[in-house]
Amino acid sequence: MKVAFACSECFPYVKTGGLGDVCGSLPKSLFDLGCEIKVFLPLYGGINTSNHKLSLSDELRDIPVMIGNSTHTFNVWTGKLPNSEVDVYLIDNPHYFHRELPYTNDRDEDERFILFQQAMLITIQYLKWSPDIIHCNDWQTSLIPAYLKTTFAWDKLFESTKSVLSIHNIGYQGRFSPESIYNSNLPVEYFYPYSPFELDNSFCFLKAGIVYSDIITTVSPTYSEEIQTEEFGAGLEGVLKSRSGDLYGILNGIDLDVWNPLTDHYIKTHYSIDNLEDKEENKKNLINRIEFKYNEDTPVFGIISRLTGQKGFDLLKPILHHLLENNDIQLIVLGSGETQYEELFRSAQYAFPDKLFFWSGYNTELSHLITAGSDIFLMPSHYEPCGLNQMYSLNYGTVPIVRKTGGLADTVKDYHEFDEKGNGFSFKDYLPDALEKTIHRALYMFKDKKIWKEIMIRGMKEDFSWKISAEKYMDLYKKIIS
Ligand code: ADP
Ligand code: GLC
Repeated sequence: MKVAFACSECFPYVKTGGLGDVCGSLPKSLFDLGCEIKVFLPLYGGINTSNHKLSLSDELRDIPVMIGNSTHTFNVWTGKLPNSEVDVYLIDNPHYFHRELPYTNDRDEDERFILFQQAMLITIQYLKWSPDIIHCNDWQTSLIPAYLKTTFAWDKLFESTKSVLSIHNIGYQGRFSPESIYNSNLPVEYFYPYSPFELDNSFCFLKAGIVYSDIITTVSPTYSEEIQTEEFGAGLEGVLKSRSGDLYGILNGIDLDVWNPLTDHYIKTHYSIDNLEDKEENKKNLINRIEFKYNEDTPVFGIISRLTGQKGFDLLKPILHHLLENNDIQLIVLGSGETQYEELFRSAQYAFPDKLFFWSGYNTELSHLITAGSDIFLMPSHYEPCGLNQMYSLNYGTVPIVRKTGGLADTVKDYHEFDEKGNGFSFKDYLPDALEKTIHRALYMFKDKKIWKEIMIRGMKEDFSWKISAEKYMDLYKKIIS
């Protein structure tokens, strides 16, 4: 099985969220299952080619690509995904990709990913490599299924190539002004109201991918149902419903080379179910690092998140001060994003300097320390396609409190005192009161060391390795090429 994997971020080269984690790990598991797989991503300015042992290809240089009527050129850098034999191809065009961040609000954001997607297909042509599958991820790569059936359809190389589009977040759709179609090199006559490229008078990359791909997947079974409803579909529910027979939900896995309490090189003390008491050393270490007062009986809550509306902070807003004032808890927040949420945590830190610690920004080391050192992980998302942080937490014996939505509903089982199944705590209603009650339920159970340990162990016993999910992708690939 030959698979070209198209993505706009891929750990360890570039990551802004879970998409980077997935694109840095799923290809390795597909390779282990026997796929010949090549990963394609843009060479952003922030990627250090020598640190990542990437080399500039001799053959793939100064290749022309059209954006509207102007010709641009690109080079290709190649390497291997770390700890693997997976080939990586990075599309290099400094004009478009050497910017402060991978994604921008610049006026030519459409052109950046139009260039990337065409450049990827052109590179495949130069390689004379005929993939069975092109696996696209999110809007930045979702014009590719349309290119295969239009602009690039003349090429026999792609005659039997099928496309898969994975939706990681329907909230990001790649919508641009109608004029943008002229930049794309797609047939402009295909743009008209309700056409595959049009959504509310915008040129919508994601819609094109949904219409043209052979199979659509999303990153959890529950989210695959949710996005077909008005509440969660963000305007694309109709078109998704029309393709519901080709829409699958496959839960993400986690990369156990990176997120494993037995080997994690960021954390102070390694541990597993067999020496669970050593997790406490990581709590002490975390608390010392932030210069808080350590107390075994004071539950430490962790949050690691993009600070956006998606993540449910509107539920925390009205109850945060009350919660900190009336409970013996400590809350450590790592994240950056919207000003309103940065201010929420900054002001709470000011009011409760010995109870709330807020680190604004992106910090990989701290994210591992919080995952290992907290007792409870808080993720009350409004919507969550899959969510990786709750799976990392479960794997580290850090008990999650989540809202029952998307992948959170598929991974976290609510603890109930009358059965012995729960690995965390969850609630359904998107209401501050529901979150507060659930936090109180967890605080109450935290006092019972025996029950709490059982909850931790049930979480650590879950198998979130990529193998099961990678096999499901393989089955889908086989299904569409047969
Ligand atoms: P999303 O992709 O919606 O942001 P996920 O839970 O799927 O949510 O993945 C988030 C990923 O990004 C995790 O690997 C998490 O540890 C990481 N992350 C988020 N914010 C930060 C941050 N401020 N610093 C370090 N890592 C972060
Ligand atoms: C998106 C989603 C998140 C998911 C990640 C990887 O960023 O918000 O829920 O885990 O993609 O699929």
